[in-house]
Order: sequence, then C-alpha cells, then structure tokens
Amino acid sequence: MRILAIETSCDETAAAVLQDRTRVLSNIVSSQISIHKPYGGVVPELASREHVRQITVIVRSALDQAQVDLDSLDGLAVTQGPGLIGSLLVGVSFAKTLAYSLERPLVSINHLEGHLFSPLIEHHQIKFPALGLIVSGGHTNLYWISEMEKYQLVARTRDDAAGEALDKLSKALGLGYPGGPIIDRLSDKGSPDAFRFSLPKITSGGLDFSFSGFKTAALRYIRECSIPMVNDACEIPQRVTDLLASYQKAIVRTLAKRTESALHHYPVQSVLLTGGVACNRLLRKTFKELFEPMGIAVYCPSPVYTTDNAAMIAVAAFPKFERGQFSDLKLTADANLPLESVPQD
Ligand code: KG4
Ligand code: ZN
Repeated sequence: MRILAIETSCDETAAAVLQDRTRVLSNIVSSQISIHKPYGGVVPELASREHVRQITVIVRSALDQAQVDLDSLDGLAVTQGPGLIGSLLVGVSFAKTLAYSLERPLVSINHLEGHLFSPLIEHHQIKFPALGLIVSGGHTNLYWISEMEKYQLVARTRDDAAGEALDKLSKALGLGYPGGPIIDRLSDKGSPDAFRFSLPKITSGGLDFSFSGFKTAALRYIRECSIPMVNDACEIPQRVTDLLASYQKAIVRTLAKRTESALHHYPVQSVLLTGGVACNRLLRKTFKELFEPMGIAVYCPSPVYTTDNAAMIAVAAFPKFERGQFSDLKLTADANLPLESVPQD
C-alpha cells in the first residue's frame, strides 16, 4: 500500500510518501522560519499564504523523490488538526481535491497522533504499554498508551508549552526564532547551575506541567542582573549562556521528574519522546540516563521525524487505511481537534 501524506498544521509545509507500514520513500519539509523570524514567532496569516504558495511544489517533490506518480497512490492522508486554522485548511482542501480527482480514499489524522507514531518510523519493535511525551511549540502532553491508537492523557501543561517557553526567552534576549535549537546550542557554553529555578508545585491535578514560572523568573534575572539583549555584532556574554543553560536544565528536569512520577501510576515498558523539543540533546540524554537503568526503553526519533513532518502523518494513517476508516469530502479542518483513541474492543 502506498500513501501520500500532507501536513500543514503550523509553519512547515510537508509531504511524504509511505510504502506499507513504515517504509518512508520520501519526506519533504519546507520550513517557513525565515518568514516568521523577524516577528519572533509564527504569524498565522503569513503561514497560510506561504502554505498556498508551497503546497503544489512540495507534493510534487515528494512524489519525484519517491519516484512514484499520482496514479500509483492507494490513498491520501492529511492533518485535520489541531493547529492554525488557516494553515490546516490549505492542507485539508488540497488533500480532498486530490483524493476526489484521483478517486482514492482519504484518511484524516490528528497532528498529536502523528507525533506519537513518529518513533515507529525507525523502531519497529516498541513494547507497550508506553508513556508518550509530546513536547513541541504548542503542546506538552503526556499520554499513557496501552497500545498504539489507545491513548489516555496523563498530564498536560497548565500554561506555556515547553517549546514556547524556550522560544519566549530567546525572543526576550534578542537571540532569534525558533529559540529551542539556539538555546540547545548556546547552553554548551554556559553553566547550568549559575541561576536557580525552583521546580513548580502543582497542588491539584498532580502530574501536570507548568513552565510560565520559569519564564517569569528568567525575566526577573534579566532585569535584576542587568543581563543585556544580544545583538548580531556582539559576542554572546557569559551571563547570557549561563542563564540559557540554567533555564534549559530547569525545563528538562521538570519534564523528566513529571514523567518519572507518572511511572508510579502507569508502569510501562517504553517511553516515547516526541515533538520538536525532543530534538534537544540534554532532554534526550537525561531521559535515557534516567529510564534505561530502570529497564524502560527510551525512543526518540531522528530530528527529521521529531519536528513537524508528513512521514509521521502517513505512518499514523496506515492502520486506519487497513481498517477502511476513511473521511468523506465533508472533512474540514479543526484547530482544536481532540486526540481520540480507537474504540475499545
Ligand atoms: O513539533 P514542532 O516542530 O512544531 C509544533 O508542533 O509546535 O516543534 C517546534 C518547537 C519550537 O518551540 C522549537 O523551539 C522547538 O520545537 N525545538 C527545540 C529544538 N529544536 C526545535 N527545542 C529544544 N531543543 C531543540 N534542539
Ligand atoms: Zn508538531
């Protein structure tokens, strides 16, 4: 079976061709970073316009790289939500049109389910039950996964997402967008113990995450310790790299501690680390060092499958194709689409 998948939920226009369950024939991502960079974050209106400009080119290159033509496709998959409504609509409309004209079935996918499926692209032997952490610019959600497609939300962020917290500090210091990779790189030069960040206590709801307190504390340090904004001309001061390293450590510790606490209630065989922030080297290392000695396998996809991409959407769509769980042409984008499990047997 051969599937063409399309993903346009935020600021990446992506298309991929999947052969059978996990063979990725092509995975093309066009990032809009340079367009949103001057604004320090994604501008929804610009994002949807750029998707319109890019989608045909990206789908064409996914087919070319896979060396397949439209007629050889067995079906299409598309991200329905959650995400930016204008961006989602571009992908959904394009996929519906293609499915109709080719007379092929269409499967709609929840973007979060795509992230949870992403480790399966490279690892075919994942043991369940698992805890699946999605850490991205828009989400910080922890799920208990009894088996693929059966999810139970265990914890979520009460305020900012982990990636959002990284992006906001980077913006406040004039370091650029997206902040996650910049902080990941610059933290190598700083001391993670230079600034103190106390971990948040959540009184009700137990395992939930919270990151906005770190941001407030960091802004206070910037003010009280006269930490300068960085501009292109200057060498990055040590106090800045110290603050970044300490902030990154606080975020990583929170993610690790909450996931570890969840194990007391939800024993598992594997931990899946997914979403753009899962590219972070300290996060990957911390999770492996913490969970592997407990006999729990930690799976983090390669960075191309961690940040937004269409291969993860195709892989998530495969079982739905097998079951014939198709969408009709009334399908519409849903900015707040909840993640739902397949019905229990
Ligand atoms: O999953 P993703 O590509 O898009 C969303 O669905 O949000 O995640 C983007 C987020 C951004 O906040 C970005 O700063 C963060 O992932 N990110 C990182 C790294 N690479 C990307 N955060 C920390 N370390 C990285 N290396
Ligand atoms: Zn994402």
